[in-house]
Amino acid sequence: MTKQLLVVENLEAGYGEMQVLWGISLSVAERGISAVLGPNGAGKTTLLRAVAGIIRPWSGRITFSGEDVTLSPPHVKVGKGLVLVPEGRHLFPELSVEENLLLGAYTKLGRYNLEESLDLVYSVFPRLKERREQRAGTLSGGEQQMLAIGRALMARPTLLMLDEPSQGLAPKIAIEILDILQRLRGEWGLSILLVEQNIVKSLEIADYAYVIEQGRVVLEGEPEELSKKGDLIKAYLGI
Ligand SMILES: Nc1ncnc2c1ncn2[C@@H]1O[C@H](COP(=O)(O)OP(=O)(O)OP(=O)(O)O)[C@@H](O)[C@H]1O
Ligand SMILES: [Mg+2]
Repeated sequence: MTKQLLVVENLEAGYGEMQVLWGISLSVAERGISAVLGPNGAGKTTLLRAVAGIIRPWSGRITFSGEDVTLSPPHVKVGKGLVLVPEGRHLFPELSVEENLLLGAYTKLGRYNLEESLDLVYSVFPRLKERREQRAGTLSGGEQQMLAIGRALMARPTLLMLDEPSQGLAPKIAIEILDILQRLRGEWGLSILLVEQNIVKSLEIADYAYVIEQGRVVLEGEPEELSKKGDLIKAYLGI
């Protein structure tokens, strides 16, 4: 059986009094890509925030590499290799591409391997190398997303969580970004938890997918099975 790197069990979380996640269970296999699909407001970002430790889970359990990390703070999780590329990218627009990348290297592993990490990131994203001196705020949307992913890679993750990386991008560049995720899994051995709106492409690169609605998993399975239920997914996603 494939070994699971990340296991989330019965996760509940929310904001203030408002509960958003109602017992979510999911997993990501070692070198696996799990996709999370769901309509706006379903709780996808909340789920990634709770797994990353940015908001505190109310109950449930998060196991990473066999270790219980349910209540570990974000920097501890990042240090263990669990890294989030947040929705909206959160770059420093006034800083150069390379300065943004260097800010990602704040883990021990990242700091000790700066040059090597930069080379790796530039080999995945040659366009960032060409633009290393350019201010991040002047990059195109696609390039900014590449930079957000590149910055996360500088922390040397084993599991990368991405919150709608293709959001707001033209279809061609969106597909390019999702193809790169597949390469990162293949060449770097990364595991990926991907939240996406691009259903067709995410089902193409994922080996397992979950549909969440109102904070609950309503459908899950291997992409081939789910693709057969395309109409059902569309109904859940309201498209
Ligand atoms: N900081 C916050 N404080 C209070 N409520 C919040 C906060 N962030 C999100 N919510 C609420 O939690 C619910 C889930 O939001 P979340 O951002 O997780 O959804 P999502 O699935 O990521 O949606 P989208 O596809 O639009 O990104 C929504 O009802 C939202 O209004
Ligand atoms: Mg979201």
